[in-house]
Amino acid sequence: MADTPESPYDLVLINGTAVLPGRTVQADIGIRGGKIAAIGRFAGSRAVKTVDCLGLHILPGLIDTQVHFREPGLTHKEDLEHGMKAAALGGITAVFEMPNTKPLTTAPEALQGKMAAAAKGGWTDYAFYFGGTAANAENLPQWENLPGVCGVKIFMGSSTGDLLCATDAEISSVLKNGRRVVAVHAEDEMMMIENKRSILGDSTDVQMHPAWRSVESCVSATSRLVRLAREAGRRVHVLHISTAEEMEILKDHRDIASVEVLANHLTLHAPDCYDRLGTRAQQNPPIREKHHQEALWRAIDEGLVDILASDHAPHTPEEKSKTYPDSPSGTPGVQTLVPVMLDHVNQGRLSLERLVDLMAEGPHRIHQIAGKGRIARGYDADFTIVDMKARHTITNAEQASKSGWTPFDGLTVTGFPVMTMVRGHIVMQDGALRGQPVGRPVRFRESLMGKNDQI
Ligand code: DOR
Repeated sequence: MADTPESPYDLVLINGTAVLPGRTVQADIGIRGGKIAAIGRFAGSRAVKTVDCLGLHILPGLIDTQVHFREPGLTHKEDLEHGMKAAALGGITAVFEMPNTKPLTTAPEALQGKMAAAAKGGWTDYAFYFGGTAANAENLPQWENLPGVCGVKIFMGSSTGDLLCATDAEISSVLKNGRRVVAVHAEDEMMMIENKRSILGDSTDVQMHPAWRSVESCVSATSRLVRLAREAGRRVHVLHISTAEEMEILKDHRDIASVEVLANHLTLHAPDCYDRLGTRAQQNPPIREKHHQEALWRAIDEGLVDILASDHAPHTPEEKSKTYPDSPSGTPGVQTLVPVMLDHVNQGRLSLERLVDLMAEGPHRIHQIAGKGRIARGYDADFTIVDMKARHTITNAEQASKSGWTPFDGLTVTGFPVMTMVRGHIVMQDGALRGQPVGRPVRFRESLMGKNDQI
């Protein structure tokens, strides 16, 4: 059907300021069949429903490409339903979930189990990383293209769970098998084992976390990784960069390595975060000193960072209260990611357009998402609608995560998501979930290639 002004839309967003590719303008958006049917000025056209966005910014649906939702096996910490509820409440329209569950997501059966569970409680769209190991490497060319897979993930250093791909030979075996993007947790396992003995020793002081999981360990892992990626001719996405030194390395490998940073690393810094939050600030790689944080912001300004994510990694308050280093690493973050980043926008640290680039265009580009990541005709009608003037105090009580806490408890932010829309369905409005779970697997261009499916 032609999009004449007379065309009926299922929904029209009127009077909002839309962040379109390349310009931020007043524009109405017409939605039909879950897709963006028209962008322009047509407030008078026929629509089943109209949403007035006066005073609000309409962003393409923001995507959190690094979350740990713990299902199956660790559901006392989180599960897919609670994780996606938290995401929708936080203005996130799609999540990419990590494979360090129990069992690990290293075989098709494990993936199918996650897909079935997500279909029941999907408040956002979703996809899953396939865990890469030396043991499953030869199967990855086939398995990486299963429906719902957003890429392959490897851990070069141990973190939560047993997934590990530490030696050059193990990493190469994964890099040489398959074509999709390989997302990498780059900390050097061998160096960390040695550091634990020689630096951490018997210490129970969480301030030692960045010393044990040292800058050198990250630099070593990232340097090895880019060399191995080049040898294999494989694209890698280096997750949660935490050091100034790694940014200097990665600037010379833009052709083969993309870069992720986390909101926590941009917002919290050592030693203050450990003084205030203790083990609640403990995550891998660690939150480091201010000069590293400044380097991450500089890398955002200079276009070096491709994706910004939360690394939502919930553990219960009881688990986090264990004596360091028995306390597990990780903090919840999927619900606070957008509010915390909008506050940074209001403080002038980055533009709203750059935030959209990092959380919509970046995921689209790096993961080759089909039909998501920008406000464009024919794309999915996914929107994060935000009030840049709203003030809100983040609390533990409002967190939908099963873990029930946030490192940002008590922080007052300016800028807040007021509506989350997934393929034309309003799933969150004014801080409350609405309707039913509508989530579906995200589709990827590379896995659709050659198949009889619409790209
Ligand atoms: O701190 C972390 N926690 N970093 C990771 O890479 C894993 C995560 C988890 O799963 O708990």
